[in-house]
Amino acid sequence: MNQPAEKLPQNFRVEIEDGVAVVFIDVPGESVNTINPALGEELTPLVESLDRDPAVKAIVFASGKKDGFVAGADVAMLQRVRSAAEAESLARAGQRGFDRLERLQKPVVAAIHGACLGGGLEWALACHWRIATDDRKTVLGQPEVQLGVIPGAGGTQRLPRLIGIAQALDIILAGKSVKARKALKLGLVDEVVPPPVLLQVARQRAAELASGKLRREVPAGLKKLKVHGLVAAATQAVLEENAVGRSLLFREARKKLLRKTRGHYPAPEKALQAVQQGYERGFEKGLLLEARLFGELAVSDVARRLMEIFFATTALKKDSGVADPSVKARPVRRIGVLGGGLMGSGIAYVSANAGIAARIREKDASSAARAFGAVKAGFDERVKRKSLTRVERDQAMRLVTTATDWSGFEGVDLLVEAVFEDLSLKQEMVRAFEAVNAGGIFATNTSSIPIGKIAAAAKRPELVLGMHYFSPVPKMPLLEIIVTSKTAPEAVATAVAVGKRQGKTVIVVNDGPGFYTSRILSPYMNEAARLLIEGADIAELDRALVEWGFPVGPITLLDEVGIDVGDKVGKVMTEAFGERLRAPGELHKLVEAGRLGRKSKKGFYTYGGKKKEVDPTMYDLLPGGRNRKRFDRAAMAERVALQMVNEAILCLGEGILRSARDGDIGAIFGLGFPPFRGGPFRHADAVGTRALLEAMRRLEAQHGARFAPAPLLVEKGQAGSNFHG
Ligand code: NAI
Repeated sequence: MNQPAEKLPQNFRVEIEDGVAVVFIDVPGESVNTINPALGEELTPLVESLDRDPAVKAIVFASGKKDGFVAGADVAMLQRVRSAAEAESLARAGQRGFDRLERLQKPVVAAIHGACLGGGLEWALACHWRIATDDRKTVLGQPEVQLGVIPGAGGTQRLPRLIGIAQALDIILAGKSVKARKALKLGLVDEVVPPPVLLQVARQRAAELASGKLRREVPAGLKKLKVHGLVAAATQAVLEENAVGRSLLFREARKKLLRKTRGHYPAPEKALQAVQQGYERGFEKGLLLEARLFGELAVSDVARRLMEIFFATTALKKDSGVADPSVKARPVRRIGVLGGGLMGSGIAYVSANAGIAARIREKDASSAARAFGAVKAGFDERVKRKSLTRVERDQAMRLVTTATDWSGFEGVDLLVEAVFEDLSLKQEMVRAFEAVNAGGIFATNTSSIPIGKIAAAAKRPELVLGMHYFSPVPKMPLLEIIVTSKTAPEAVATAVAVGKRQGKTVIVVNDGPGFYTSRILSPYMNEAARLLIEGADIAELDRALVEWGFPVGPITLLDEVGIDVGDKVGKVMTEAFGERLRAPGELHKLVEAGRLGRKSKKGFYTYGGKKKEVDPTMYDLLPGGRNRKRFDRAAMAERVALQMVNEAILCLGEGILRSARDGDIGAIFGLGFPPFRGGPFRHADAVGTRALLEAMRRLEAQHGARFAPAPLLVEKGQAGSNFHG
């Protein structure tokens, strides 16, 4: 009987040489490899045919892409899943495929260069030998919990068996990834080599494994759980190796998790369950539970929200910031930074880090030296953490120069202004820059002054826009770019491209007081201040919003930002929007009493002691004194958070925002809006626009006109339609 001709695989390319088959994973038409069912269906038959092929003694998996191994499962596929059972069976299929691979008699080597994440790492874990390149782009990890799911193709079982429970939990529960050197230390890979020799070494190891010269690992399913000698500290090893110690370890991990997730993110907790199951009931049972939990999570609301965020940020990466596709960004090699304070030095740092030369102008020599030192400190810190070599640091620092005059600014392509928050100073800066630089773009990092007012002083207002960075600049992921009706599309596209190179997620909004992020923060902070004035307890109020999902409460935030800064912004917003956004005057009294927040070590909380505690003397400056009233936490959170949501909807209605998507990303990445709620607009859709409209009307009746629902909410609520399609 004739065998049906084997179909040529679409996702793989095989080269056989000297008994070693190198399988290049190469998903057609994509720049990165992701795992989808079609690829899965090709893998097992391919592996089996290589297993049968007498000319093949060993197999190497490598990537056909330039800079990535396998980035994980195809998230779009996950998002299309309709039921827990469907997702569970996807996971089971993945598990079976990798199980088959691991049980092959012929040795299998993973040759890893670039991202080896999620399903990609699970793939590598099922191989018998792992080699990674020492390239910066090479990272290995299980980021699944960041999408609200858990590793579903054996990761919760194989990873702890390979590197020990504690180390595996560290990676899986936080969705972390590690670079090659760290992976080697952990025992996650067997060796690390420079990129040019990766394939050669992989072929050689495969041949050595096949000839028995090198011994291969026992398959994870057959292996007793063990601790890798290299990694585990002695005490940890003891904990992992006996049952009582292990259950203590799991209990501790669970407690730590709950403190972090506050029950809002179920995935890490489920991942922990799957790991524990594998320890208590064995590999097979562990896999079964892993797939079941993966299925449940994949269709959960939290996973949906987190995947939507993933897609929104992916879409923003491809968004040029302007509607017209023919508009191209100007090349930017050199930028100028005016003012090398907290923000300016951060902006210079992220620029140099991206290979863009940054020239800082400060008001005098000592300020310039301080600015230079601040940029260098950022790079030094990374050398200390080993995420950068000294040579790389020195290379980056060569891109940073300082001046106390305008010399060198004639040649910058873009200037970011970060001097004091003062309109006439900023206008003076525009004029001075235009005088020395004929066609450069002027971007201001103002946090509250409308860009149009600054541009009013410009001869070339088409080259003026806002680049609103957040503090601390190196860490905060968002950049809000603000355009006026006069800003040229080319200037916008250029600023967006620079922001992306600096590693930022960029949203483009239209000009207006407070733009988008500062504007929606304003009523949120006002409402918190009102609650304090009505008698709420400082710590309780903060706790209420943290329980709602913000990383810190509004009062802590005010202390961090500076009560004086809050007061100043409050005034700007009151002037612009009148009664609706009127900031309570009490803030000003606190500033007059010398309470500036953390920076003055005198705020709502005490600083300097071991524990951060509410400073009771603050109550003496507030109505009601030290006798605080009891407020329901959920009710406080509702008042404060819905002020932000409603203001975001106003911004969309007024055309400050281009889309609900940008509004969600801006609030999450700029202000810490709870990711599991997906942003103000996703939250509105999840609650239901009708229900949200009713809630706003109830609050309006109770607390007054500032809760009047945004016209767009009224429209959507009455029609019962969503903000997102
Ligand atoms: P900062 O006070 O730390 O830095 C301002 C720097 O500008 C100082 O180093 C000062 O010496 C320098 N400077 C003042 N006049 C100058 C001049 N004529 N020429 C050259 N340098 C001059 O202030 P920060 O916090 O860095 O803020 C800068 C700008 O960024 C402000 O507009 C602020 O509103 C905005 N911003 C601040 C954020 C924050 O969280 N601190 C967040 C977003 C924006």
